[in-house]
Amino acid sequence: MIKSEFNKYTAKFISGVDQVKLNKSSKKLIKSFVDGELAYLNDINSYVSKEELNDIIKVAEYTRNNCDVFIVIGIGGSYMGTKAIMEALLPTFNREKPEVIFLGTNLSSLYYRDVIEYIKDKDVIVNVISKSGETLEPSIAFDIMEYIMKGKYSEEEMKERIIITTDAKKGSLRKKAKEGGYFTFEIPPKIGGRFSVFTPVGLFPLAVMGIDILTLLEGFMSGSEYLDKAFEYAIAREVLFRKGKYVEAFTVYDEKLYYFTEWLKQLFAETQGKNGKGILPISIVNTRDLHSMGQFLQQGKDIVFETTIGIIDEPVIKINKYDKTLQEINRIALEKVCEAHYSDKTPSLVLYASQLDEFNLGELVRFFMTSAIVGALLIDVNPFDQPGVEKYKSLINDALNSIVIF
Ligand code: PA5
Repeated sequence: MIKSEFNKYTAKFISGVDQVKLNKSSKKLIKSFVDGELAYLNDINSYVSKEELNDIIKVAEYTRNNCDVFIVIGIGGSYMGTKAIMEALLPTFNREKPEVIFLGTNLSSLYYRDVIEYIKDKDVIVNVISKSGETLEPSIAFDIMEYIMKGKYSEEEMKERIIITTDAKKGSLRKKAKEGGYFTFEIPPKIGGRFSVFTPVGLFPLAVMGIDILTLLEGFMSGSEYLDKAFEYAIAREVLFRKGKYVEAFTVYDEKLYYFTEWLKQLFAETQGKNGKGILPISIVNTRDLHSMGQFLQQGKDIVFETTIGIIDEPVIKINKYDKTLQEINRIALEKVCEAHYSDKTPSLVLYASQLDEFNLGELVRFFMTSAIVGALLIDVNPFDQPGVEKYKSLINDALNSIVIF
């Protein structure tokens, strides 16, 4: 369950008049989300079909039992959501097998050297994820992995060890899957990278990691109740931006949400940062960052607002000298920091999830995806493209004198 406190630490910046004005222009948007051209985004069948869900569960079970290391290849929206949910839910230490390694998120020879050395005597299964099937970093990762695996496995074994997630028809990765006879999952054409964690892009690797994807999807479906809240949040952000708060700090009070803030940065930057518009997202993990970024938020340049995310129920660890639990102290820290920052200049939009579990994460992911899209529409930018990202891709292609092929 998501609980919101959007007024408590913002009231002096957000007037009812501003909200009403934006509310009017958002009426049309609400309609298009509820029963108009964007309504498909609320329907879980747009993300994954029942048959595909069954396949995901079966292939995930096979994968769990047949490798030491599971390698997930993908970049941006093709991996961030998975990484965010995985890090939020899996134990910090002593994770169950298979071990998970992400590849295709950088071009670092040092990182690849370490991975190659580490997996040399281990059994691997690889999931290559690219919607376009034309992205440089994952294509290089796949090239390296295929080469290593061909030296180790027969053609038949390769077919059981390479799983490709891509568009149903387009892209050179689809072609590669056909040539190699590799098993494939489809990314629905209407769902873009950063909105794809509820498609096989996120669901398959998460299922391999032992995460309960059915409950995650239940969270998505219950997230329907939060559509209004997502609109309210999108409007509040926009009002704050118009008051000169050009930077949004996604602030969490649990290390386990660090990658969730990375996902939020990706989601909002790529969805809204275009045509000279958008709010710059940054991330803060407290209480660690109170001893660095906290100073800026209290007394630095007056351009930041926070979106603070707290968790209500956490494990009980008693701190005897204060006769409180650690969670109670963390909650006091969250509230007092919001109060302190607000007393100077930094407002905060606060959200609480009742617990850090599959259901609540399903709700939170849907909530933020909806807000990011609505926020983009409010400032009249296309939420679904990323022309700036395409630019660097094409310049690299030119420099390599070749288009990317898998
Ligand atoms: O959100 C997005 O659309 C991007 O971040 C893409 O996911 C990213 O560029 C990777 O693209 P692809 O999946 O086509 O390789």
